[in-house]
Amino acid sequence: MNILVAGGAGYIGSHMLKHLAGDGHHVVTYDDLSKGYRDAVKYGELVEADLGDPLALDEVFRQHRFDAVMHFAAFIEVGESVLHPDKYYHNNVSNTQALLDAMVAHKVRHFIFSSTAAIFGEPKYTPIDEAHPKAPINPYGRSKFMVEQMLSDYDRAYGLKSTCLRYFNAAGADPDGELGERHNPETHLIPLILQAASGRREDIKVFGRDYSTDDGTCVRDYIHINDLCSAHALALSRMQQTITSAAYNLGNGKGFSVQQVIDVTREVTGVDFKVTDAERRAGDPAVLVADASLAKHELGWKPQHDSLETIIKTAWQWETDFLCK
Ligand code: UFG
Repeated sequence: MNILVAGGAGYIGSHMLKHLAGDGHHVVTYDDLSKGYRDAVKYGELVEADLGDPLALDEVFRQHRFDAVMHFAAFIEVGESVLHPDKYYHNNVSNTQALLDAMVAHKVRHFIFSSTAAIFGEPKYTPIDEAHPKAPINPYGRSKFMVEQMLSDYDRAYGLKSTCLRYFNAAGADPDGELGERHNPETHLIPLILQAASGRREDIKVFGRDYSTDDGTCVRDYIHINDLCSAHALALSRMQQTITSAAYNLGNGKGFSVQQVIDVTREVTGVDFKVTDAERRAGDPAVLVADASLAKHELGWKPQHDSLETIIKTAWQWETDFLCK
């Protein structure tokens, strides 16, 4: 297949390129490099352009006959979205609409969308399945939920089929050491802990020890990047077979607290590092764990790297072999 990967120069997109190329697909990345990295595009061609540029978008669809589009190009920082909602609605909503309109114009009918656990807002129950109420509590989550709603309208009106994949906490790196996570600024827990372990950061701050969890720190469901990628590939083939739109929650269904992640990192790296207690970060739910039974059942998805040790080991290899060089 010929697949357009919007945001292929970013963390998840770059791993997806490798997965798709490994399955024998032809991939084209469309990325403005505002967050991504040119050297992360290791497979296929890179078109350096903005989704808000209608001529460039039209041109790429004209040049290639795409069978499907995967869309990873979005802003992802909750705190920033509260301070600058314009940025989030512009990039995550308007630019996504521009991409969908180009698909409709060029009769490309299969779309895989990177959604998020943030569309659920404050959990009403855990683990979170697809039926959980959608009530995002910040502009980031709302921007993703708006696109999910837009997608059902585009299906009804234009027959554009989509699969929304709601990621819980994407983590880890390519086990071959070729790719990994590089955000600037980095805000995610595992890469920040590893920066503390490698000495690139003075300490790791624990945002709150007074949550109603076993050890008082927040619990999250960490999912290895390669398992996320395999879910995308399965979702695409199912969508093409069934010609129906769908949405799946993606996680391992196992929660780990911030303190547990710190403890496992110490074991995996063999390095001790400074841990500092800090205030709660605004908008953090105490527990976010996925019920991914539907993805397992309907897609036949089987996470292969579901131990926290493996997730951290692969991320540590990336931190020491690439980021520290
Ligand atoms: N944390 C710390 N110290 C840090 C960074 C994070 O204690 O320096 C804590 C956070 O408070 C949270 C946990 O570690 O409890 C995980 O935080 P991350 O920032 O790594 O991930 P989030 O769970 O906040 O974010 C994830 C996705 C977002 C998505 C969000 C939905 O990465 O894209 O879930 O709530 F919006």
